[in-house]
Amino acid sequence: MKRDEKMEKKKMLTGLQPTGVITLGNYIGAIKQMVDYQEKYDSIIFIADMHAITIPQDPETLANNIRQLIALYIACGIDPKKNTIFLQSENPYHANISWMLECNTYFGELSRMTQFKDKSKKNANFSAGLFTYPVLMASDILAYDVDYVPVGIDQKQHVEIARDIAIRFNKKYGETFKVPEPLIRAEGTKIMDLQSPDKKMSKSSENQKGVIRLLDDTAVIRKKIMSATTDSMGKINFDIENQPGISNLINIYVSLSGMSKEDVVEKFAESNYGTFKTAVADLVVEEIEKIQKRYNDLINSEELDRILDVGIEKALKTSREKYELMKQKIGLRR
Ligand code: TYM
Repeated sequence: MKRDEKMEKKKMLTGLQPTGVITLGNYIGAIKQMVDYQEKYDSIIFIADMHAITIPQDPETLANNIRQLIALYIACGIDPKKNTIFLQSENPYHANISWMLECNTYFGELSRMTQFKDKSKKNANFSAGLFTYPVLMASDILAYDVDYVPVGIDQKQHVEIARDIAIRFNKKYGETFKVPEPLIRAEGTKIMDLQSPDKKMSKSSENQKGVIRLLDDTAVIRKKIMSATTDSMGKINFDIENQPGISNLINIYVSLSGMSKEDVVEKFAESNYGTFKTAVADLVVEEIEKIQKRYNDLINSEELDRILDVGIEKALKTSREKYELMKQKIGLRR
């Protein structure tokens, strides 16, 4: 590739929290998009471990989850040669940038974040970090002048506030940040819980039966899909309102097969729910078996540390430049 072509490549960045084994929802909503686009864009993917501690974490479990997540990124097809992969907590500029952004963010706008409202309801003693979480996320994004942020729809509001913060800062202090766009796929942007298809499939869900984790035993995955909640209509239709369970399974099938929603509905027009569920299970198990095999080869290898060592060097360099620029603009200088 010529130098000019390389310089023109657009940049994308995303992060996942190491708060438990990632789910099929995380895979479809974020990781798979990164894998599909990694040829086209300059890609950064990191482990949002500082976001994870906005809610209480057991230290040993957290450390294990971090290592597991790095191995899973790579097992899912994130290529360390094409992506900068690093650990958020190894880069002190994120929190420093976040502080400067916090001082340019309003209490009112953070109070309106739906994720904050949901999570703070669950525990009256929530931390201040849970409240300022979106600003740390804005700093993750704005530190690298990225064009795109591939996320699931549940994180769209957070990317939007990052845009608002960037626009406001640029206006106040002069051009400092690139304003990023969320990259959200139409199909499968929100994979729902198999047991309660009105709720998103979430790592922190209490009911394990509704959540497919990438390291679940494949027999268990099959069982979870076969016992997914459906309805009494008996027809494979995409109708989120009246058939949320079936629509969710269609979304999963569409995301993993690459077929259109219409083609999936047509293909299974004559099938009963059992046959359709078996087909969904076959597809999910086939995909996850490949990931698990690569994961088992990687989890104890030193390669993971080498990948993170290379990644953090690159991340530090770029984010430090942004941090220094912000300090100059704000007047934090001698
Ligand atoms: P997290 O760890 O909750 O989720 C990681 C990614 O997975 C997507 N996702 C889903 N997509 C479809 N269906 C679901 N059921 C589902 N559940 C989760 C999320 O939208 C997300 O893209 N705040 C972020 C992590 C983060 C980040 C960032 C992301 C921190 N800094 C900067 C992008 C850019 C989070 O909690 O993701």
